[in-house]
Amino acid sequence: MKDNFISARIFMGALTNLATRPFRRLVTELGAQATISEMVIANYAAKGGKQDRALMRREPHEKIFGVQIVGGNSKNLVKTAKQAEYLGADFIDFNCACPHHSVVSHGGGSDLLRRLDDLERLLGDIREAVTIPVTLKIRKGFAEEDNVVADVVRIAQNCGAAAVFIHARTKFAQYRGPNDWQLIEDTAQKSDIPIIGCGDLAHGSDVLEKMRTSACAGFALARGALMKPWIFQEIVLGTPLDPSSEERLEIIRKLANYTLDAFGYDERGHKRARDFLYKQLEWLARYVPTGAIGRALPLQEREGVWTPRDPLEDLMRQHDTASFDKLLNMVGFDDNVDPDWHPVWTDENEDRRA
Ligand SMILES: Cc1cc2nc3c(=O)[nH]c(=O)nc-3n(C[C@H](O)[C@H](O)[C@H](O)COP(=O)(O)O)c2cc1C
Repeated sequence: MKDNFISARIFMGALTNLATRPFRRLVTELGAQATISEMVIANYAAKGGKQDRALMRREPHEKIFGVQIVGGNSKNLVKTAKQAEYLGADFIDFNCACPHHSVVSHGGGSDLLRRLDDLERLLGDIREAVTIPVTLKIRKGFAEEDNVVADVVRIAQNCGAAAVFIHARTKFAQYRGPNDWQLIEDTAQKSDIPIIGCGDLAHGSDVLEKMRTSACAGFALARGALMKPWIFQEIVLGTPLDPSSEERLEIIRKLANYTLDAFGYDERGHKRARDFLYKQLEWLARYVPTGAIGRALPLQEREGVWTPRDPLEDLMRQHDTASFDKLLNMVGFDDNVDPDWHPVWTDENEDRRA
């Protein structure tokens, strides 16, 4: 295996609105070796807004923390990368994968996969602006039949990037069809820089298998970690886990507490915490317990009808806010409001509450 650029093999992937500081704290505790911020849009962040700066703040519990930046404007990307470095990021991840119109229409994200000269120029500019490692996150290409992986990896290497994260579906495919793992693995075999494989890793066993058989330097987990954050424990322990509903409730309790720790115990912090927790519970509700269906469900497969093993497991698969509120109530979330709470007044804490 090639040397890894920062010793981590297991990454919590970038997830807008979901890889929040409390969630990253939870997965770090469960075994994620490196974490990545929510995507920071350089055109906004360069203006110095508090909310954008908050996205770049590391959680004190994180081990190796990268800030992901996106955009098509060199000045703004450089300014944002420098700010992330100043705020303590261990590496910068340049997003050339985002498929969303709001990003692509401004020449950022996956749009750069069809403008490789610009990608090279921007990556070079970011690389020169900071002293910490710079990685690249890509998809297979932009249009349906595109495959620019080999070209981009060559560019990444020429620019001195530290690693390339590859999700091997095109922008066109979004999440449809198979993730081209063969392409990721072939690229990892040939490439002189570390390749981090992404996509469809639903269970610890999927990752352990790839660790044994592929030349990838690491793996990033996204949807699998949202549905079952204990996937990291499965990797660490080397065994599948089938937590009971009570054990899953304990994970929700932790997440709720960490979310309040992050946003504050007063009414304002509480309201923000609830908004974030709804998003997280929405993903946790998608998990289909291995024990209930007798097999580990792949990420791209849906199990239509299954029988929960107890009433709590049934509640946990509901997607409505009334059910989320019930769960939050069960873990004491609503008892935790303290109107007299206020943050210790530092710039950092002010940012964190933004
Ligand atoms: C809700 C959601 C938000 C995402 N946000 C980002 C993001 O901000 N930056 C990024 O590089 N990838 C983002 N991704 C893509 C994931 O990081 C990952 O590459 C992709 O989902 C494939 O991995 P998976 O099959 O493990 O989910 C997002 C994915 C989802 C489902």
